[in-house]
Amino acid sequence: MNHFLDIHKTDPADLRGMIDQAHAMKQARQGRPKGTPDDELPLAGRMVALIFEKPSTRTRLSFDVGVRQMGGQTMVLSGNDMQLGHGETIADTARVLSRYVDLIMIRTFDESVLYEMAEYADVPVINGLTDRTHPCQIMADIQTYEEHRGPIAGKKVVWTGDGNNVCASFLHAAGQFGFDFTFTGPPQLDPETEFMDFARAKGSKVEIERDAFKAVQGADIIVADTWVSMHDAQSSRERRHNMLRPYQVNDALMAAAGDQAVFMHCLPAHRGEEVTSSVMDGPQSVIFDEAENRLHAQKAVMRWCLGA
Ligand code: CP
Repeated sequence: MNHFLDIHKTDPADLRGMIDQAHAMKQARQGRPKGTPDDELPLAGRMVALIFEKPSTRTRLSFDVGVRQMGGQTMVLSGNDMQLGHGETIADTARVLSRYVDLIMIRTFDESVLYEMAEYADVPVINGLTDRTHPCQIMADIQTYEEHRGPIAGKKVVWTGDGNNVCASFLHAAGQFGFDFTFTGPPQLDPETEFMDFARAKGSKVEIERDAFKAVQGADIIVADTWVSMHDAQSSRERRHNMLRPYQVNDALMAAAGDQAVFMHCLPAHRGEEVTSSVMDGPQSVIFDEAENRLHAQKAVMRWCLGA
């Protein structure tokens, strides 16, 4: 069964196929109202459960719209409204859902919930974000980079700030798509060694550079993310802000990188904190294309999961 759990667990040829299909499906819809169906309806007759144990704007909307464009139907569920949030086991929930739906997307806290859901479900399961990884976001980011600048293989990605769950999936992608990765941030917030080791083992150059201005030299992509993620304690906010302030992406940092670099952020952003508005709204920013491409990339992911 084709679960889409993490980028490092998915065959590189399959990942490439999904990105190419995402490009093609986006092209085929150019100029159409969002609510009109695609020409092909590969999810006709399919029911998809979208489960959220954390808040979401982009993931929720892009999966819901994507299923509908492909002719399927969705049920959007909050973990708290389900028995899952009141003591029913993940294994039992997975078995029950498999009797009603053809595909499950889940956003949850601990990745063990995702992996247990996949173990016991009889239908494919997609990772819509856990505390450790966010693979759907990075599929959209790769599609976005390639539509602006061409193939990502051999390019240099610079991650600024907190080595969080989105950073982890970027490192997985570095290994699978063949690009290099530099992390610039405080040592307390380095990405887990396991993620860096994966990319290195696949042949990617992975570096840590504490000086943000040195790190961005020759960058093709500069990425920022929120300084306090959904899984971080709000009580750590001031301490994290103090540590991360030298890593803000601003006009000076973008100038140090050069015109070839694009700026990415998975959103939601905190304007004036991890990135300035002048960069978010500036000529090198591709943030709203990233948000749009969640739709197209995930449509390709769902087709791959269902063999449709
Ligand atoms: N980037 C992202 O996953 O956005 P949401 O949290 O709004 O889904």
